[in-house]
Amino acid sequence: MPRLPHPLSDQSFAWLQAYFEQASGIRLRPEKKMLVISRLQKRLEARRLPGFDAYCALLRDPAEEAERQKMLDALTTHETYFFREPRQHEHFAQTALPGFKRKPVKVWSAACSSGEETWSLAMQLAEHFGLHGWELTGSDISTQVLEHAARGLYPLERLQNMPERTLHRWCRKGLERYHGQFLIAPALRQRVRFQQHNLLEPASALGEFDVVFLRNVLIYFDAPRRSRILAHVVACLQPGGYLYLGESETLTALPAGMQQTGTAVFRRTQPTK
Ligand SMILES: C[S@@+](CC[C@H](N)C(=O)[O-])C[C@H]1O[C@@H](n2cnc3c(N)ncnc32)[C@H](O)[C@@H]1O
Repeated sequence: MPRLPHPLSDQSFAWLQAYFEQASGIRLRPEKKMLVISRLQKRLEARRLPGFDAYCALLRDPAEEAERQKMLDALTTHETYFFREPRQHEHFAQTALPGFKRKPVKVWSAACSSGEETWSLAMQLAEHFGLHGWELTGSDISTQVLEHAARGLYPLERLQNMPERTLHRWCRKGLERYHGQFLIAPALRQRVRFQQHNLLEPASALGEFDVVFLRNVLIYFDAPRRSRILAHVVACLQPGGYLYLGESETLTALPAGMQQTGTAVFRRTQPTK
């Protein structure tokens, strides 16, 4: 019999809201309370706790860093697909990549979730340049999705949007215990680095980039935090570099030195520094 969800008191919900906002920059609105209960239920069961008050007390323990990370992993939304928003991938391959003369071309898949976006970009980079002449970084705040991304192992159903030729070249069908799954080709897996990064922090430690994909993540932040994230991203974008946002995301004000060149595609025109 499935267990009934534990009730979440207003006080514990307020504490979780404040902790999550401070750690991720995302404010959980009151209507998200049921979502919080359902996403954290497994953590309570895993830690054999009687309820949310006990879970919040546990999270306050300085020795529980790993549990705080698991809470963050559970509360962030990780929906993603291979070749999501295909028009942008087309723009990347047909307009952005051919314009770069200096090598290596450096690409950042920011908020990459479980890696589908990053591997889609790796496949496009490898088809354009071969296995050299490019660098690709995937980052996210959640270590759980980053581990999944680096493993490069996905259920076969995830292949839906993948162009046939790309699939045959860069994916390996799983056998025996990997039946029903596919693995990103080892030659690509060696070429990509995954790293934890909070977008609210400056990105200078990650390096400078010719292209940044920052898709379907700004929607989770309020306006001041969106501006802060954009400022960090633009600061590490090379002049002439491209920034891709999610197609449904709009900017109320363009960051200084950026020009819109397509649907949710922006180009850095001059240094902001
Ligand atoms: C909906 S997914 C987007 C995945 C991919 N970019 C795409 O468009 O398919 C949003 C990701 O943003 C990450 N995220 C949320 N807050 C973040 C933060 N402050 N810093 C970095 N990543 C964050 C989440 O962990 C999640 O994996």
